[in-house]
Amino acid sequence: MPHTTPRPGALPAPQEKAAHVRRMFGDIAPKYDLLNHVLSLNVDRLWRRKAVRRLDWRRAPAGTYLDNCSGTLDLAVALASRKGFAGRVVGSDFTYEMLERGVAAGKTGGRPVEPACADALRLPFADAAFDGATVGFGVRNLADLDAGLREMARVLKPGARLVILEFTTPSWQPWRGLYLFYARRILPSIGALISRNRAAYTYLPESVMEFPASRELARRMEAAGFGPVEWDTLSGGIAAIHYGARAA
Ligand SMILES: C[S@@+](CC[C@H](N)C(=O)[O-])C[C@H]1O[C@@H](n2cnc3c(N)ncnc32)[C@H](O)[C@@H]1O
Repeated sequence: MPHTTPRPGALPAPQEKAAHVRRMFGDIAPKYDLLNHVLSLNVDRLWRRKAVRRLDWRRAPAGTYLDNCSGTLDLAVALASRKGFAGRVVGSDFTYEMLERGVAAGKTGGRPVEPACADALRLPFADAAFDGATVGFGVRNLADLDAGLREMARVLKPGARLVILEFTTPSWQPWRGLYLFYARRILPSIGALISRNRAAYTYLPESVMEFPASRELARRMEAAGFGPVEWDTLSGGIAAIHYGARAA
């Protein structure tokens, strides 16, 4: 009889993860932005701005950039809105409803942002097509993190940066205890109230707790072809920005 490791309640089995994640984001797309800002008390906007700064896009201001797992396009728009940015940003995601929501909300209006419906594990872009890439709260959702990192290395030019903004779990007590109480007890209830999808907002903290710690994520980015990888810790360890250039 095959042996399967039990998973925490809201986490799908690895072979079901992609379909589960796509269904979940398709379902919560209409309320995704509102919940992001409510649950983070709007701090997510600040994190996104910091992530864009780490991309160092001024090295190629007229370049072509990828925002992978772009969702409702917030990070793509944050980059395209920078003063002096003269390039274009492809906002790629495999959940059509998320991209559609971002476009319908008028975020792209007049900005050089192009939505693309694509799987991060099989990007429909040529090798070395991009001058830089961002991923905001996306890599944690990939069915195969290492394959996703390698795929991003493939589509980046040598020397181009990858910037990953992702949740982490704080290690410093009592902040850690407070954060875990919020993430496990309060966040799912607010999420359920607004989105009517408790499972999605139970998945969120569980997937964060299961995700590799900052040092381990840096190591895996380096193994995928980036380096050296550094990171900034945000808000006492609730999130982190990892960044590194694709090796030449
Ligand atoms: C938490 S949302 C983040 C959206 C956006 N980047 C942001 O900063 O708000 C995660 C997104 O990753 C997308 N995603 C997850 N796995 C993916 C994959 N294999 N290929 C493309 N998109 C994926 C989901 O559809 C979802 O829109």
